[in-house]
Amino acid sequence: MITINVVRRDGTTVPVQANEDGSLMEAIRNAGIDELLALCGGCCSCATCHVHVEPGFEAALPPLGDDESDLLDSSGDRDEHSRLSCQIPITAALDGLTVRVAAED
Ligand code: FES
Repeated sequence: MITINVVRRDGTTVPVQANEDGSLMEAIRNAGIDELLALCGGCCSCATCHVHVEPGFEAALPPLGDDESDLLDSSGDRDEHSRLSCQIPITAALDGLTVRVAAED
């Protein structure tokens, strides 16, 4: 089991358990963290699954896609650690990662 620590908008941290069979967005939603709206269901067209990824795990992440980057540009909370969680597959390399749910746009 892979553990990812998710910092909610209220500042609390929730350890989320995940298997290597879905996306980070799905793992966060399955843990009941519904402030991550994920309105498009993971097809990279809404940006409501925006998270900030802890520095140091960049090598474990897939490259930022053009569509993903364009969508993140629509967020006022974008920074260099921003990713769309639906575009990050869960892998063992993510064990111990911390992500923070982005501010609501
Ligand atoms: S869930 Fe819509 S872009 Fe990720």
